[in-house]
Amino acid sequence: MSAPGHRVLLLGGTSEIGLAIVAQMARAGGVAAALLAGRDGAALERAAEQMRGAGCASVSTLDTLDAAQPSGHDQLVATAFDQLGGVDVAILAVGLLGERGGLPQDIPAALEVLDVNVRGAGSLLMRTAERMRAAGGGKVIVLSSVAAQRPRRTNAVYGASKAGIDALAQGLSDALAPAGVQVMVVRPGFVRTAMTAGLPVPPLACDPADVARATLAGLERGAQTVWAPPAMRWVMLVLRMLPRPIFRRLSL
Ligand SMILES: NC(=O)c1ccc[n+]([C@@H]2O[C@H](COP(=O)([O-])OP(=O)(O)OC[C@H]3O[C@@H](n4cnc5c(N)ncnc54)[C@H](OP(=O)(O)O)[C@@H]3O)[C@@H](O)[C@H]2O)c1
Repeated sequence: MSAPGHRVLLLGGTSEIGLAIVAQMARAGGVAAALLAGRDGAALERAAEQMRGAGCASVSTLDTLDAAQPSGHDQLVATAFDQLGGVDVAILAVGLLGERGGLPQDIPAALEVLDVNVRGAGSLLMRTAERMRAAGGGKVIVLSSVAAQRPRRTNAVYGASKAGIDALAQGLSDALAPAGVQVMVVRPGFVRTAMTAGLPVPPLACDPADVARATLAGLERGAQTVWAPPAMRWVMLVLRMLPRPIFRRLSL
């Protein structure tokens, strides 16, 4: 990112993808101050140290974010905007993968995935966008997933949750563009992070730094949607068009 000195808010302050985006922005000289919001104070401090090492001059943390409790989000977002003196770029990185397989065995845990990934992330997105609109502009990066495009039998709940937040972000992107708020949807494929640790690694798997690179390039060109790696756009186009009987036989 070329413009220096942004105030950056990472919602999901320990997310490996989110931190890779902040770090690449910092290395490009684009971060004046960063605030990492999450729920685990010690982990947030370690992440803040990492960001200082990446060149963020000023990094603070806020450990009162529970994505599953939207009633606290207005206060949380207000505090974050106050601490930073406004937010130029917000990265929405909260997310849970949940159980793999078909019908979940642990239904309360599946509902938590929906709570965090749709209701919670949606609440944080709307609260952030509301403040940016009032301030006259800003950019929100929403970490969706290729799973939003065609949920599979192995990730029905996660796919449903990402389809929900992806749709909300796209609609808000159109609604808020005239107000100077850019909502950019990022759809990574499989990324090697804590979230996917231990899972079989598919073709086109990438690293957080690859997602960060695609994200910053997208911000630079004012994109509405970013794929990471970029080839996933064409893979998903084909998968989306496959008739269901053929898609089922693929056992994805
Ligand atoms: N890794 C992939 O393959 C992949 C692919 C496509 C999209 N994505 C999306 O990218 C985003 C970042 O994922 P990642 O790979 O960076 O995974 P990650 O390192 O596991 O990050 C997930 C973040 O969500 C936070 N979180 C989860 N539940 C929360 C709650 N109730 N309250 C507050 N924070 C909560 C985690 O906080 P704690 O550290 O406190 O748990 C962590 O900061 C997610 O939205 C994910 O769905 C990931």
